[in-house]
Amino acid sequence: MIEFSHVGLRYGGGPEVLSDISFKLDAGSYHFLSGASGAGKSSLMSLLYCGRKPTRGNISMFGQGIMELNRNQLAVLRQKIGVVFQDFRLLPNLTAFENVALPLRIIGQPDREIKQNVSELLSWVGLGDYMDMYPATLSGGQQQRIAIARAVITRPRLLLADEPTGNLDDEIGFKLMLLFEQLNKMGTTIVVATHNIPMMEHFGHQRLVLEKGHLNMLGKKAA
Ligand SMILES: Nc1ncnc2c1ncn2[C@@H]1O[C@H](COP(=O)(O)OP(=O)(O)OP(=O)(O)O)[C@@H](O)[C@H]1O
Ligand SMILES: [Mg+2]
Repeated sequence: MIEFSHVGLRYGGGPEVLSDISFKLDAGSYHFLSGASGAGKSSLMSLLYCGRKPTRGNISMFGQGIMELNRNQLAVLRQKIGVVFQDFRLLPNLTAFENVALPLRIIGQPDREIKQNVSELLSWVGLGDYMDMYPATLSGGQQQRIAIARAVITRPRLLLADEPTGNLDDEIGFKLMLLFEQLNKMGTTIVVATHNIPMMEHFGHQRLVLEKGHLNMLGKKAA
């Protein structure tokens, strides 16, 4: 479903931050992505999201080579992907409710269903009383939960989450990781970038480890 072949990425004229990365992810798989700060996790996530193109190599997503696609074609492809950015990227002039509703509005879901689906999910993540508030008036952890709700509301084929529990306490973080497990069981392919070793050990999914721009695959549950 996803294939990287000798992919490299550099920003501007700088050095390669990702070098010669090749891997395949099967549909329905679940991987953790780890590596030290600055190792390139968010950069790899931006390639998986087709937010930028690599500076060398090839990427194929959902059986389609992305290098030839134009902006509009990439935008269509991105509709299959839910993403939780490390810095959330909520729209500041939309309420919590409207941020989460946006992907459903784009695919044309009727208002009545949107109201029901968004209210239900926001209540489930503990933000039922905050739906009409704007991101700037919410805490980091509350904003992160909105970002997660927005990423999963369409039940995407691919879910990318960059440090999705970084601002959450253990209890709510764990609850959200269980939501990801459920989505994965229903068929969503998942990549979660994280530093959280106990969480990786608890869920035991295969780990992709970035080290100085190179990617290694570790087996399940490191002994
Ligand atoms: N937009 C950018 N322009 C220039 N350099 C960048 C940009 N984004 C990232 N980099 C550089 O790429 C390298 C990898 O950064 P990246 O954000 O991908 O790391 P990371 O593994 O996500 O780190 P962290 O754990 O701190 O989130 C760093 O050296 C960083 O300075
Ligand atoms: Mg990062």
